[in-house]
Amino acid sequence: MAENGDPVLALTGLNKSFGPVHVLHDVDFTLRQGEVMALVGDNGAGKSTLIKCIAGIHPTDSGTIEFEGRPVQIGGPRDAAELGIEVVYQDLALADNLDIVQNMFLGRERRNGLVLDEDSMEEAARQTLARLSVRTVKSVRQQVASLSGGQRQTVAIAKAALWESKVVILDEPTAALGVQQTRQVLDLVRRLADTGHAVGLISHNMNDVFEVADRITALYLGRVAAVVRRAEVTHGQVVELITAGRSGDLGLAPTTAAESI
Ligand SMILES: Nc1ncnc2c1ncn2[C@@H]1O[C@H](COP(=O)(O)OP(=O)(O)OP(=O)(O)O)[C@@H](O)[C@H]1O
Ligand SMILES: [Mg+2]
Repeated sequence: MAENGDPVLALTGLNKSFGPVHVLHDVDFTLRQGEVMALVGDNGAGKSTLIKCIAGIHPTDSGTIEFEGRPVQIGGPRDAAELGIEVVYQDLALADNLDIVQNMFLGRERRNGLVLDEDSMEEAARQTLARLSVRTVKSVRQQVASLSGGQRQTVAIAKAALWESKVVILDEPTAALGVQQTRQVLDLVRRLADTGHAVGLISHNMNDVFEVADRITALYLGRVAAVVRRAEVTHGQVVELITAGRSGDLGLAPTTAAESI
């Protein structure tokens, strides 16, 4: 039985190029049960590319992926979903004209014979929202078009939590949100970890990172500059890791940092 802190998803020595452009260099990245790992880095550092490799959207050039201690191949999005890896992309991919239940089960509808099992899907949607203590959504039969940005983000995250997922990765979930809605989404991210998920959080916002992450992986020009515990670093150090690849004793050696440019 896995315990909190155990690695669920561990990438080692991952490399990824697009044609002649080498985007990810020997990247190690680990998500642990019950923890939020923030993934930070400047625009173009390779964060989304890394997530897309995990989600099976991009093939990798080299490196190994272990899931719950076993080596696995993620050849496509279906492989990732079967392992229990769910990714919430920034554009959310929710269907405006459908209600919350329909969105949460889109493409994976439950059937009772030939007809859709609406009652069971509605109950499961409601239970998932309740388990994550979501109180901002009034009815699971509300159309997604009528939801606020924060509520939409909530539905997208709850959808990811519905599938007995073990790993949930969120790409900039608070980027378009106001103060109150950001608060609610960060609470939800924390609850995902507290309910036993291994959580990855991509964010540019240091306040978000420091509020909710247990550990931070800083990417600098496609290399891991450092993996640190949140409690052991300052905002300033993390900003330096992002912008220069190093901060004092932390980060890439000066030569490596310079070579990366
Ligand atoms: N499909 C692709 N084909 C070619 N190059 C790509 C592709 N996707 C990403 N890249 C390149 O890979 C690098 C990393 O991009 P990526 O989107 O992973 O960065 P990011 O860290 O997510 O940045 P941002 O913070 O702006 O979202 C960039 O130089 C980008 O141009
Ligand atoms: Mg990105």
